[in-house]
Amino acid sequence: MEPMNHGEGDTSYARNSSIQNAQQRRMRPLIEAAIIDLCASTSTLLPRNMVIADLGCSSGPNALVLVSIAIKAINSYCIQFQRKPPEVCIFLNDLPNNDFNTVVKSLVTLRKSNEPIVVANVTPGSFYERLFASGSLHLVCSSSSLHWLSKVWHFHYSNRPFASLVNYVVETFILQAPEILRRGHIPAYNTDEHARREMLPMILEAYAQQFKNDFTCFLNLRAKELLPGGQMVISITGRHSNGIASKLFHIWEPIVQILSVMALEGVIDKSKFDSFYMPMYGPSSEEIREIIQEEGSFFIKEMVVHDYTSDEDSALVTPNRFMHQMRAVFEPIIVQHFGEVMEEFMRTAERRWSLDGILRDQLARLAWLSVSLTKA
Ligand SMILES: C[S@@+](CC[C@H](N)C(=O)[O-])C[C@H]1O[C@@H](n2cnc3c(N)ncnc32)[C@H](O)[C@@H]1O
Repeated sequence: MEPMNHGEGDTSYARNSSIQNAQQRRMRPLIEAAIIDLCASTSTLLPRNMVIADLGCSSGPNALVLVSIAIKAINSYCIQFQRKPPEVCIFLNDLPNNDFNTVVKSLVTLRKSNEPIVVANVTPGSFYERLFASGSLHLVCSSSSLHWLSKVWHFHYSNRPFASLVNYVVETFILQAPEILRRGHIPAYNTDEHARREMLPMILEAYAQQFKNDFTCFLNLRAKELLPGGQMVISITGRHSNGIASKLFHIWEPIVQILSVMALEGVIDKSKFDSFYMPMYGPSSEEIREIIQEEGSFFIKEMVVHDYTSDEDSALVTPNRFMHQMRAVFEPIIVQHFGEVMEEFMRTAERRWSLDGILRDQLARLAWLSVSLTKA
């Protein structure tokens, strides 16, 4: 999978991520509480340095939002209790082909604000692998990323002319959509409505199982990397758990429905559509709670569930804005599988999402889940 649209142009994630930014701002109280717990638990002396990581930072303004909230909270605590601020070490992680150039440019601004001293690094890699040394982190944050399922690295040799050895090995991600579906060539979203309904419970179960494996693995790895008493604040796109309509629903359905219309109209190849698996799962708060409890490395301090579009940010989800936001997130994965079909995708999306109520009904099933955890 390719990360979000690069750069700072009109279709970039940097310019089209205000929905995710609204969710990051909702995480502020949880991050501030985590910092207070970290500072207060060290009795009279603060640690000399504090290590904070944002996993799945992407690029653009959102990449620095969570770590900036944490730095401000440390600063306020130190002013309030007249303590010497610790040095803060920031790690920003994403998949290796993330637009780290843009991230590094914005880090320069962050480092210029000298209170407290901030040392910043980028950490390319998958958060479903070990990223940091054992017991080295105080706080892990992550927003709008953990609903992406795991990927495995796949190296292959390029037969294109290459300028240097570095170009010789081309790194791509194999989507790790549920194996039972891929192996059985079972389409995740059948264009035939009857077949789709029949298969839906089985397909949701396959996705739920993979999410469980991935999220368990994530918790396990972070438990190794956090110090005892370390804190984690994450938010994820999920589903409301009340009501059958919300339960029998994939969070990627609004996007794949557009592709299914394109397959039915012959714009994209039907067999290509049938082999397309969105590597994403939106859990309910109960599923998250169960997995955390079963894995056992963390206590849940607080869990908050929000509507996907609360009143104050409903202006962010007009059909036109939503189309551009979705393009910034899904263009790389759609183009990788179907080729250059984005203009047609946008036209089809506009036709469908402008129909009264369709988008509102679909988004009403989605939820933002935020959870704040302490390492047991
Ligand atoms: C929608 S963006 C969220 C970016 C930012 N945190 C925000 O709230 O706006 C999701 C990010 O998660 C990253 N991601 C997905 N799977 C990942 C993985 N296994 N390891 C690291 N990053 C991953 C994607 O590359 C993408 O940049």
